[in-house]
Amino acid sequence: MPDTYSSMSPTITAMIRLDHMHVLSAFHRYHADTAWWRKRAIVNSVCAALEIHAQLEEEIFYPALAEVVNDNPTLSKSRPEHDEMRATIAKLRATGPEDAAYDALFHKLMSEVMHHVADEETMLLPTAERTLKNELRSLGARMTRRRLQLLGERPRDIAVNTAGTFPIATFLLGALVVIGATHCLPKTRRMRYAD
Ligand SMILES: [Fe+2]
Ligand SMILES: [Fe+2]
Repeated sequence: MPDTYSSMSPTITAMIRLDHMHVLSAFHRYHADTAWWRKRAIVNSVCAALEIHAQLEEEIFYPALAEVVNDNPTLSKSRPEHDEMRATIAKLRATGPEDAAYDALFHKLMSEVMHHVADEETMLLPTAERTLKNELRSLGARMTRRRLQLLGERPRDIAVNTAGTFPIATFLLGALVVIGATHCLPKTRRMRYAD
């Protein structure tokens, strides 16, 4: 990642917190008496956001943290917790909002995610901010580039953003910086960076 991008990018920890905030605020929009079509829109949007967020953490954040900490128990259980969350997402997708089990499954997902997010925000993010101080922006830029790729593979998830839950703001925050930096760079440097 060129320095120009990295120095202007939000930090990876800021991006992770913003993703968490968007998903947690989406949880508050879901109620037992919410219309079935709105329940489904919220669930679809939350599930897509969680899958992308988990993949970004597994590909970029966790490996960077693993290089600077030894045997961190919170880090060790992070991937298995993502897998539990993926299993609940699969069950939700196999169940319709008209099914009596739908609310219970979504509450299970909420509980798993809130527990996981609390651990990340109280343990992993502060640890990263202490130990990866000089890399937080370059990691943030890497996360934005990877998010762009993943969103490109799932255009429908952007299209179904009607419930306002998908963390587009996190994506835009980084993407605007990358696009802006690309636009401002002299043409020869842009060509070199594009390689
Ligand atoms: Fe996570
Ligand atoms: Fe997270």
